[in-house]
Amino acid sequence: MDFMKTIQERRSIRRFRSSPVDPELVFTLLREAQQLYSSGEAAAFRCVYAGTPDSRERLAACMLEPMVKNRLVKWLPEKVRDFVRKRVTDIPGHLAVIAVTGPDRRESDLNYAAVCGIMQNFQLVAWQRRLGVLWDTEPMIQSKELFDLFQMKPEERLVGIFHLGFFDKMPKARARTRAEKKWTVLSGGGG
Ligand SMILES: Cc1cc2nc3c(=O)[nH]c(=O)nc-3n(C[C@H](O)[C@H](O)[C@H](O)COP(=O)(O)O)c2cc1C
Repeated sequence: MDFMKTIQERRSIRRFRSSPVDPELVFTLLREAQQLYSSGEAAAFRCVYAGTPDSRERLAACMLEPMVKNRLVKWLPEKVRDFVRKRVTDIPGHLAVIAVTGPDRRESDLNYAAVCGIMQNFQLVAWQRRLGVLWDTEPMIQSKELFDLFQMKPEERLVGIFHLGFFDKMPKARARTRAEKKWTVLSGGGG
């Protein structure tokens, strides 16, 4: 597997085909992503997958609930709500990734970082099978409604939701900042 090529070519996918995403494939990709992350200790996390029409409807309803409750957008036209709802229900699969946290800040950060590493690996192995991913961290996903849906415990943290589906068109790459622009050489400091 040419990972250099995969890393360079992988793009976030926002337009998905309607064909279903088999939960078995998602599970396989998760296992591969985890195996590729070679930290000493196992990362502590769990996932919730919504891949059936019913479960996608439930997810969409929970995503919309805070918007509906919000006084400012309470009078949001039905059309707009339907658009948001349809955007979620049309995407074949949604994978919520939940990390375990604890009282020790360093330990929690290390685990969170490991889970993010595994998630990036997931994006790469998914790309190799032409399964598109959008990593969603929008503030609206950090809602009580979603936390209840995912049965989250106080010591858990929702890292993100992967929206998943196969795709036809590969988006163009964005311009990248050259590494040299993010690089400072620490001088010796003498004289
Ligand atoms: C940690 C992380 C969080 C992201 N969160 C969002 C998000 O909330 N909404 C979104 O539209 N894209 C999100 N993205 C996708 C980025 O916007 C995307 O990676 C960026 O546009 C670069 O495009 P590329 O992935 O095709 O290289 C996220 C990506 C990462 C790695």
